[in-house]
Amino acid sequence: MAELLSRSPEETALLGRRLAAHLEARDVVALTGVIGAGKSLIARAIAAGLGVEVTMASPSFVIVASYEGPPDGPGVNHIDLYRLRDYGEALAAGVEDAVYSDAVSLVEWADHVPDVLPAERLEIGLEPTAKPEERLIVLRPVGEDLGARLGDFITGMVRERFE
Ligand SMILES: Nc1ncnc2c1ncn2[C@@H]1O[C@H](COP(=O)(O)OP(=O)(O)O)[C@@H](O)[C@H]1O
Ligand SMILES: [Mg+2]
Repeated sequence: MAELLSRSPEETALLGRRLAAHLEARDVVALTGVIGAGKSLIARAIAAGLGVEVTMASPSFVIVASYEGPPDGPGVNHIDLYRLRDYGEALAAGVEDAVYSDAVSLVEWADHVPDVLPAERLEIGLEPTAKPEERLIVLRPVGEDLGARLGDFITGMVRERFE
């Protein structure tokens, strides 16, 4: 687990774009945090880093929005579990199919239906601080493969502090 202090939306977006360079097909990023924390902002930045423009700020009434990737890269699923209450609803909405597909899945409100997410995932928690432009960002890879793959990147981000 690593904690980073983002001092602006631009820094959070930079983290997202840099992270994208280390993601692969089938990876799942589980985003948590209150409304306005920056889940959609970082999801858009990760997608942009993967060469995909996520058009909706949040899928809102669409639970799973799937985007095709560039010719040489994976697609992106932008998923919002906010309105789902349980595993059955998530299953019916196609969430499980999406997170086990070949795309990279970016899941907002991941804590609403944790059962539908694979064991191996990158958890990113965003927490507002007393300053309006600051967010405490907690990165936690779950599962050995992802932890090994992202370990150096995460350590580097903590050391460099966005510089
Ligand atoms: N350091 C920061 N990181 C991310 N967003 C920030 C930051 N500071 C301010 N913001 C603002 O917070 C809002 C986050 O909105 P959004 O990404 O839609 O949140 P969520 O999807 O979590 O509800 C944006 O308006 C963004 O400009
Ligand atoms: Mg959102």
